[in-house]
Amino acid sequence: MSRTARTRTPLAAGLPDFPWDSLAAAKARAGQHPGGLVDLSVGTPVDATPAVGQAALAAAADSPGYPLTSGTPALRSAIADYLTRRWGATGLSPDATLPVVGTKELVAWLPLLLGLGPDDVVVYPTMAYPTYLVGARIAGCRAVACDDLNELGDLAPALVWLNSPANPTGQILAPAVLAERVRWARERGSVVASDECYGEFGWDAEPVSVLHPDLCAGDHTGLLALHSLSKRSNVAGYRAGFVAGDAGLVAELLAVRKHLGMIVPRPVQEAMIALLGDEAHVEVQRERYRRRRAVLRPALEAAGFTIDHSEGSLYLWATRGEDCRTSVDLLAEHGILVAPGDFYGEAADRHVRVALTGTDERVGAGAARLLAAFGTGSAATTGVSASA
Ligand SMILES: Cc1ncc(COP(=O)(O)O)c(C=O)c1O
Repeated sequence: MSRTARTRTPLAAGLPDFPWDSLAAAKARAGQHPGGLVDLSVGTPVDATPAVGQAALAAAADSPGYPLTSGTPALRSAIADYLTRRWGATGLSPDATLPVVGTKELVAWLPLLLGLGPDDVVVYPTMAYPTYLVGARIAGCRAVACDDLNELGDLAPALVWLNSPANPTGQILAPAVLAERVRWARERGSVVASDECYGEFGWDAEPVSVLHPDLCAGDHTGLLALHSLSKRSNVAGYRAGFVAGDAGLVAELLAVRKHLGMIVPRPVQEAMIALLGDEAHVEVQRERYRRRRAVLRPALEAAGFTIDHSEGSLYLWATRGEDCRTSVDLLAEHGILVAPGDFYGEAADRHVRVALTGTDERVGAGAARLLAAFGTGSAATTGVSASA
């Protein structure tokens, strides 16, 4: 009897190419600058983890037993208190919260965890964090990129992603626009997942949470708000985030996660409690980014860029009206590495994303180079110490 060889399609085959690999040449070129690389491509925090978080993590280092998937009662209360105090959520019980090992992981797994599949549609913004699409593909859903939900006609998506302040554009949607999207989704029975991981960083407008009564009328049905401590508290390396909102949906996620794991380590849970209870370090960090943004923006404008949106988040969304790869190459000539817009959707291919996550020294150096090459100003006007 002849045997037919088993064939297997690797899961990665259904996913987009990992975009960062395509930046290698620009990175090599930028790295040759005599003043060194100014890497403003990946939005990864560079400032120290606040002492309050490090101390709590260290104090919980003796952790022989398995942590609770649900998070400790103290952590769930800390999450509910934070969302109530900082974001004005009403009627949120600790049971309607769940810690996650980073929101990237939750974004990527959410459609699957909600039981969605090939019959379901996931809607996400046209210029967006790529993991929304990845999560839809992993679950086998149909992914639809769309900004104006009214264009979807009678379609009733299973899941609608919101992201304000947005990656990559920095756009902050007005409360009325968000409330309208919530209303639209609820009418169709769609789950709304609101990725609020840049919520602490509003510059020209004030971000709001989907759990605020102005948006949801105090009713969390169908709503999930995702928050990350990565940028708020400089703990991207801890993998710490949470989801909260509709108590029934959160209970569903917890029930599945009890089987699947992805449990937040106990020392990280303790660090989260300490960090969520402290706003002072967030204010310090916000000021750092505000300063860097004020330095970078005029330097990019001097180099011929127009800054679009960028009302919030950790990015300047910049265009010279040319193909984004041309802009990437131009900045790489000056030793500055940024992310091309085409990582974030076809609609974004004439912009670059410039992260504020460089040290003061690197941001100052990058700005000084641009001003020296294109501007009328000088390094002394940047206000940040520079060694170009
Ligand atoms: C829009 C958005 N959501 C989620 C994340 C994931 O953050 P983390 O996994 O560190 O919580 C990021 C990271 O850059 C992001 O830009």
